[in-house]
Amino acid sequence: MVYKIKKHIPESEALVERDRKVIATCQHLSSYPFVIDRARGEMLTDVDGNEYIDFLSSASSLNLGSANVHINQAIREQLEKCTQYNGGYSYNEPMISYAERLVSRYPGGVKAKICYGNCGSDCNDAAVKFARAYTGRTKIITFINGYHGNTYCASTMTTCTPRMHAKMGPFMPEIYHFPFFGTDVSDEIAEREGTRAIEEAFQLYMPADEVAAVIIEPIQGDAGILPAHPIFMRKLYDLCKKNGILFISEEVQQGFWRTGKFFGIEHYQGIIPDGIIMGKSIGGSLTLGAFMAREEIMNSLPAPAHVFTLSGNALACAAGRAAFDYYETDEFQNILKNNSCQIVDEMKELKRKHPETVDSFRGLGMSQGILIVKKDSEGCKVPDVDGVFKIIFRAYEKGLILITLGLNVLRIQPPLNIRPEKLHEGFVILDEAITDLEEGNIPDEVLSYRHGW
Ligand SMILES: Cc1ncc(COP(=O)(O)O)c(C=O)c1O
Repeated sequence: MVYKIKKHIPESEALVERDRKVIATCQHLSSYPFVIDRARGEMLTDVDGNEYIDFLSSASSLNLGSANVHINQAIREQLEKCTQYNGGYSYNEPMISYAERLVSRYPGGVKAKICYGNCGSDCNDAAVKFARAYTGRTKIITFINGYHGNTYCASTMTTCTPRMHAKMGPFMPEIYHFPFFGTDVSDEIAEREGTRAIEEAFQLYMPADEVAAVIIEPIQGDAGILPAHPIFMRKLYDLCKKNGILFISEEVQQGFWRTGKFFGIEHYQGIIPDGIIMGKSIGGSLTLGAFMAREEIMNSLPAPAHVFTLSGNALACAAGRAAFDYYETDEFQNILKNNSCQIVDEMKELKRKHPETVDSFRGLGMSQGILIVKKDSEGCKVPDVDGVFKIIFRAYEKGLILITLGLNVLRIQPPLNIRPEKLHEGFVILDEAITDLEEGNIPDEVLSYRHGW
């Protein structure tokens, strides 16, 4: 039986049908036929005129929501002057002044330089190129369940789904994956196991002096918003320092105040990364990425080792710079503080109302994951893989956009400056969707919309 969506969406359905004929299947992992037409702040409108609250922020690439007034003003002004002119063969002021601002944010006051790219993926590639060039070593360590993107290098580093590897090999050599220890393990396990596998590898098959860099998401995003355990991070950092290995923080999803600090790594005291990978919200809603690292690392490659026609384009840099300047204001910092408190209160209330379904929540600041469970035949709590999908599907029908991560995690990443009443309304919808799940009111037929990952 085909499920009839509880929404009036004829235009949306017609467009999805046309999309199917001309867009490659691998480019969509949409869970429902949401066809965006307009967006303002945290409100999204589809082509049929239905409104939705945004709990996804375009996968954390719209940290100030859609059509932010400060950003749009900067875009309008830059548009009148110059959209882009190849940054390899010329210079432009927004590219320079934005880089000046970004390096000023480098943790520990380190003197750093920027290399612009177009997205998060190619900036992961940049990190590998610079690390190899600077150290003269080849091996790279990344972590199980990490997501780094879809260029060949970034997808080699990614290990959260076989679908980013199947049929496309061979992948990049000399990239190694080790276990990640999150805040979901005890201090004792983080202490005992944290770097055990890496140290064993150093003894058995991977000479430590051939390792160029460790590249780690301080808060694994697509694994289900899982912060690294502080003991694991500290051990990893110490191991890097001991062996001359660069420690690179992957901030594509969690950077730009998403976690309550400018970079996620700033939650880990005493850790000063050698390099930082940025993407998503760096472009203030436009496409941009950047790798930044200590000056001497950034001086290790000659032109044109990592330059793209549109990297560091004036329009995206002007947009990102405007966002950066707004982030610095007291107004924004107060909003962020209040929203970060409210989001935790809302999640606590959701857990109180649904103790059997909401197992726990985790994350930092405005980057949160809610774990959805059910009881198996023996009464044990297990991840509710179908249930979490049913919740987001019903939420879509009721006017809330969010997605799932990992096996059973609801991804909660609204714009950082979402209006408090809309944040609350979003949680009211989640509450209703979970109630529908618990009462058996979301039929299995909706699962036919699930694809990807
Ligand atoms: C942690 C992380 N790294 C890298 C990427 C890749 O970024 P992009 O899709 O802009 O290439 C993503 C995208 O989701 C991400 O979440």
